[in-house]
Amino acid sequence: MPEATARPQAGGALLAELREGLSRPQKELSPKFFYDVRGSLLFEEITRLPEYYLTRTERALLERWMPRWIGELLPASLVELGAGAAVKTRIILDAMAAAGSGRAYVPVDVSASFLREIAEGLTAEYPTLAVHPVAADMAEPFTLPPGLPAPVLHAFLGSTIGNFAEGAAVRLLETVRRRMGPGDRFLMGVDQRKEVARIETAYNDAAGVTAEFNRNMLRVLNHETGADFDVDAYRHHAFYDRERHRIEMHLVAPAPQTVAIPGLGIIRLDAGESIRTEVSCKHDRASVDAMFAAAGLAVERWETDGEGLYALVLGAPA
Ligand code: SAH
Ligand code: AVI
Repeated sequence: MPEATARPQAGGALLAELREGLSRPQKELSPKFFYDVRGSLLFEEITRLPEYYLTRTERALLERWMPRWIGELLPASLVELGAGAAVKTRIILDAMAAAGSGRAYVPVDVSASFLREIAEGLTAEYPTLAVHPVAADMAEPFTLPPGLPAPVLHAFLGSTIGNFAEGAAVRLLETVRRRMGPGDRFLMGVDQRKEVARIETAYNDAAGVTAEFNRNMLRVLNHETGADFDVDAYRHHAFYDRERHRIEMHLVAPAPQTVAIPGLGIIRLDAGESIRTEVSCKHDRASVDAMFAAAGLAVERWETDGEGLYALVLGAPA
């Protein structure tokens, strides 16, 4: 199994991205900075929280539909964006094994060390599967291992598409579409629009795990850049924007903050000022149809749970 490289972005490019995000009127950083090993483990803890309905609902949909869909598509390769701990992925890999079709699995993730551990575990668990981890920022150009056996199923689970705002989501789907041959398919999980209280509760859990996950971004940045964010000084704030159909997560500085970032300079936050750390867009059939159409994809299958909380979508090149 080839080694996953170190964290995909470092040095000048990282500082340039931080400078740009922190000089906006609403300071903003990419949610990719949540994820080092600790951040990836915190996310796994979130997936087990009673308030966070997304993961268990998606798991039930995968258990319901994968045996049939995989039996029809017979994918030889699975490429997964933002694979994380690849827990639900096993439902797909098991269906591929049962159908006798699975030969290669390519988990793509920005959390490089975590990805490497997960890939090692999967190699041991699925000895006949070639596992090729790719440590990359999926929003930047990256290459897949050459000669992946076709047909390829591209998967994007967990509603991570929601962490990309409008234009960025379409650009990302376009890059997936460009990699697809006519027999390839795209599997996506997406959190649906619903009663606001239900969504807000999922991002404000009673145990405070989401707050810790949010603050982990500052730990990652301190570690990666030598910055001196006072991590525990920031308050977690997550709220639903009804017009834009999305959760926004912020880190609020209750008191003024002065942060030194080596190579970048001093960043100041006023009392009450925040850094937006994540958007989590919620969708419906029409918004997914529109995103897919803009990216050259067409919805082939659309399945939701009984409560309409979440949707599992199969897309094909349009
Ligand atoms: N697919 C898993 C994990 C979802 S959490 C699930 O459904 O439970 C989101 C995952 O995407 C994390 O593992 C994170 O490291 C990864 N990720 C977030 N932004 C990324 C980016 N820009 N490029 C690559 N991976 C990213
Ligand atoms: C990974 N992503 C889809 C999660 C979400 O729900 O937007 C990340 C997360 N943020 C807070 N809780 C979970």
